[in-house]
Amino acid sequence: MAAVNLTRRGILQAGLGAVAVALLPRGASALPVSYQLTAKRVAKTLPGCVGPSDLWLYDDGRNETLPIVLRAARGENFTAALKNELAEHTAIHWHGVRVPFAMDGVPYITQPPVRPGESFEYSFAPPDPGTFFFHPHCNTVEALGRGLAGVLVVDDPRDQGLFDVEHVIALKDWRVQHDGGFEDFLTDAGAAKAGSFGALRTANGMVTPSIMVPPGARVRLRILNLDSTRIPQLDLPGVKAVIVATDGNACAPFALQGWRLGPAMRADVAFIAPEKTGVAILLQDIFSTKPRVLARIVTAGEAMRSTKAVLRLPEADLPQPDLKAAQTLEFTLLAGNPDPALQAWAKQMGVSADEICLTQKVFWSINRQVWPGMGQGTGQGALPPPLAELKSGRSYIIELFNGTPHQHPMHLHGHTFRVLGSSERDLPPHWADTVLVRPKERVRIAFVAGQPGDWMMHCHIIEHQETGMMGYLRVA
Ligand code: C2O
Ligand code: CU
Repeated sequence: MAAVNLTRRGILQAGLGAVAVALLPRGASALPVSYQLTAKRVAKTLPGCVGPSDLWLYDDGRNETLPIVLRAARGENFTAALKNELAEHTAIHWHGVRVPFAMDGVPYITQPPVRPGESFEYSFAPPDPGTFFFHPHCNTVEALGRGLAGVLVVDDPRDQGLFDVEHVIALKDWRVQHDGGFEDFLTDAGAAKAGSFGALRTANGMVTPSIMVPPGARVRLRILNLDSTRIPQLDLPGVKAVIVATDGNACAPFALQGWRLGPAMRADVAFIAPEKTGVAILLQDIFSTKPRVLARIVTAGEAMRSTKAVLRLPEADLPQPDLKAAQTLEFTLLAGNPDPALQAWAKQMGVSADEICLTQKVFWSINRQVWPGMGQGTGQGALPPPLAELKSGRSYIIELFNGTPHQHPMHLHGHTFRVLGSSERDLPPHWADTVLVRPKERVRIAFVAGQPGDWMMHCHIIEHQETGMMGYLRVA
C-alpha cells in the first residue's frame, strides 16, 4: 500500500480514510499527530428521515465517518486544536484517557469554557493504548444527542501483527423524527427512569451497515457505545468472539456473548472470520427477545490463512492498586431530592444556572449529595465539596452500591480502575473507566489516585448525570 511511506501528518493531508489508516502497520504510526477540530452545526439527513437534522459535529476536515475517528500513538504527543463555531460554549473531554488535569475538558473545573468563536488547544501524550472517545461536558444531553462526539484510537506498537484487519463500530441512537427534527433530549419521564431512548438505531451513523473483512482474517472490532441511554447486550453468533479489551484496556479474553455495553463503555472484540467469502455474521443486541442486528460483518476478497492466531492483546500497563493498603470508600447511588442550595454555586459564580452547566431538576444522588448544590456551598471556593478527598499515589477501593431500580454506568475521569467484582454476578476482573452497576448490585473497583485535581465521577446515562448523579473526587 502506497500510504505506508507517508507520515501520519501526510496521511491526514492526503485525506485518506480512517480505514486506510487503520490498515497501516503499527510500526509506521509512532509520529506526533495534530488535528484541527471545528465544533459546528451541520445540516445532515439521517437514515430514514425525509428532511435534514440540525446536527452538531466535530469537523476534522475529512469527515469520512460519523462520528469522525482520530488516531494517536501511545506516549507520543497528540494535539487537537478546537475551534468553537457553535452558538454556546463548549470544551472537549477525552473520555478514558489519563490526561493531565488541565486537558480533561470540564468547563469551570479544569478549564474556562471555550466561548463561541474561541479556540482551545488540547495537547497531551496518551499514556495508554486503546479505544477512546471524546465529547463535550456541558449541556451534554443535547450536544451528544445531536452527534457531538468523536472516536480516538490510541495505537500501540506492541499490537503490530496481531490482527489482519480492524474496524471501529460506534453505536448511537437518535431521538429523531421522520422530518429530521429532534424530540426533547431530556424528559422528566426518561431522566427519572432509564433515560429517553432514540428510535433510530445506528452503527457509524448507518442502519445495519455491512462491514467487509477478508475470509479467515483475524478481526478486531472496536465497539463503542456513544449513546446517552441505551444498554445493548452484545452477541456475534457464528464465530468465537471474545472481548480482548474493556474500555480500551487489554484483558484476559472472555466470551462476548451477553456482555452489556453501557453508555460510554467500549469493547474490543476479536475473532477469526469465516473461511468462505460472502458469509455474513451479525453483531446483535440480544437484550430483548427479538435480537436486533446492529451491523453485518461480511467476508469478501482474498482469503487469509492465519497460521497462529492468538486473539489476545499485550497486557495492560496501568498503575496497580495495592489492595492490602487500600482505603475503602462507599458510594451509594440513590434517588435525589432537590437541594435548597441548588442555586448557591451559580450565585457565587454570578451567572445563571444554565450557563454553568447546572440543571434545575434533581432526580438522582451519590451518597445523598446531588450535583449541583451539594451541601450549602463551600463558603470560599466556587465549587461544591467533593465526594471524597484522596491522596495522589495512594490506593483506593470504591464500593458502588446501586439502591435504585435502574442500571447506572458509572464513570470516573482521569483514572483507569480495576473492576474487582460484583455482589450479584461473576464479573471477569478487568480494567475500565466506566462500570455498569445493576439494581441492588454492589460493584467494587480499585485504583491508584492519579494526578492532583478535581476528577468528575458520574453516571453516563446523560439524563441521570444532568439531574444530579454527578460529583467529583479531589486528589491532592
Ligand atoms: Cu464521557 Cu464525564 O464523561
Ligand atoms: Cu444512571
